[in-house]
Amino acid sequence: MTHKLTTAAGAPVANNQDSLTAGPRGPMLLQDLWHLEKMAHFNREVIPERRMHAKGSGAFGTFTVTGDITRYTRAKVFSDIGKQTEVFARFSTVAGERGAADAERDIRGFAVKLYTEEGNWDLVGNNTPVFFFRDPLKFPDLNKAVKRDPYTNLRSPENNWDFWTGLPEALHQITIVMSDRGIPRGYRHMHGFGSHTYSFINASNERHWVKFHWVCQQGIENFTDSEAASVVASDRESSQRDLLEAIDRGEFPRWKLCVQIMPEHEAETYRFHPFDLTKVWSKKDYPLIEVGVMELNRNPRNYHADVEQASFTPANLVPGIGPSPDRMLQSRLFSYGDAARYRLGVNHHQIPVNAPRCPYHAYHRDGAMRVDGNYGGTIAYEPNTKGEWQEQPAFAEPPLALNGAADRWNYREDDADYFTQPGDLFRLLTPDAQQRLFENTARNIAGVSEHIVQKHIAHCTQADPAYGKGVADAIARQKAGTL
Ligand code: HEM
Repeated sequence: MTHKLTTAAGAPVANNQDSLTAGPRGPMLLQDLWHLEKMAHFNREVIPERRMHAKGSGAFGTFTVTGDITRYTRAKVFSDIGKQTEVFARFSTVAGERGAADAERDIRGFAVKLYTEEGNWDLVGNNTPVFFFRDPLKFPDLNKAVKRDPYTNLRSPENNWDFWTGLPEALHQITIVMSDRGIPRGYRHMHGFGSHTYSFINASNERHWVKFHWVCQQGIENFTDSEAASVVASDRESSQRDLLEAIDRGEFPRWKLCVQIMPEHEAETYRFHPFDLTKVWSKKDYPLIEVGVMELNRNPRNYHADVEQASFTPANLVPGIGPSPDRMLQSRLFSYGDAARYRLGVNHHQIPVNAPRCPYHAYHRDGAMRVDGNYGGTIAYEPNTKGEWQEQPAFAEPPLALNGAADRWNYREDDADYFTQPGDLFRLLTPDAQQRLFENTARNIAGVSEHIVQKHIAHCTQADPAYGKGVADAIARQKAGTL
């Protein structure tokens, strides 16, 4: 390994201190090639940040199978107890930009890429099991409501709560975000959820519906609003620092992977719509089954290379794991690959952190930044008589029965109960935790127009009268300056 400075083309750089000038006080010369190269590269070093989840931290590790679920899925990643698969996980906040403080009240992203022998499986989840709404058409609006106001360029509680309260189905997610879990002490201290319903296909080609849970082994720990304020005042990167330093110390965080399994036919008769992303499946109806454990044990050597350039997509599915008709998931199957093609380019799958660890032959060729030899002289069409890259019918999924007339169906008419589950969650909280929920909400909603505040109180009241009253009282104290 040489420590000699060269240009990107490998030629020696004789002087990295002084630009080339005409005389000691004269202007610079265009033939200062090193200066041109250095400045030009510098101007191109920032890539677009993720539209959501821009601030994040990542680490490599392993997933180890501990429970047998081969009767539900033929996914090779689960084929044997003790089997290990390399993973890369990226955690993130959602609303803040790439330089935002970590200890903000927000959802946390929980994205895991498992480099399985039959392709990459990305479980792109959050630290909450539900989401704000059920239709993907609202996703860009969410983004605009929680990010900066176009006029003030400030984050706007008015916009945020105006949007949230316009969607009664958001109350479940709002309740989680306003609860203690809204500010995890760091990424090591939170659960993760696949959130959507996915499908498992087993060796007999039978389908089950499945939900994924990453159960935190470090214990759930959160910051209160005032703790978070003092953390942010002294350290804007508290979650990055916590994860990085724990792994450097050899304290490797672990999460158990558990699944809830629903036989395919039960989806038709379950007491609520099982593909509704604003609801959780009852663990009494569908208990958690332990499947494996993820340990994160290796920090990336370079943040930009592995964390900033990582791209996840729920469309990275492997044989034995498939999507469900959840319309949010259906939209995400398109959205992430499209975002990666914009943010990183059409060949983003070749970037080492994104590249499968198994051979891949997609017939995709050319495009900007193709650096893997581009399949050399191998033919690029199919069908062919040369035996190249044949489709693999053994992996076809069983047919999925669909019915119904095409229309823009109003999901609120399909299932209008958006209050039972947030009410259940509220009643599960201890009185102290309920009080913090009231007060966090009051601080967060402070200054928002009265009609919006009243709408939120009305939604809370529908979930549980004590929830509505608690929030109303805390808001009154906030206004009186006694909170
Ligand atoms: C990031 C779209 C809902 C979890 C992103 C990005 C987009 C996006 C465009 C940036 C991707 C990039 O630039 O690489 C959407 C759409 C949604 C949706 C259209 C709904 C229709 C969800 C839900 C979850 C989720 C429900 C969790 C269950 C994440 C995570 C990231 C992310 C974890 C960051 C991934 C990373 O670490 O690179 N989303 N999203 N999103 N989203 Fe979503």
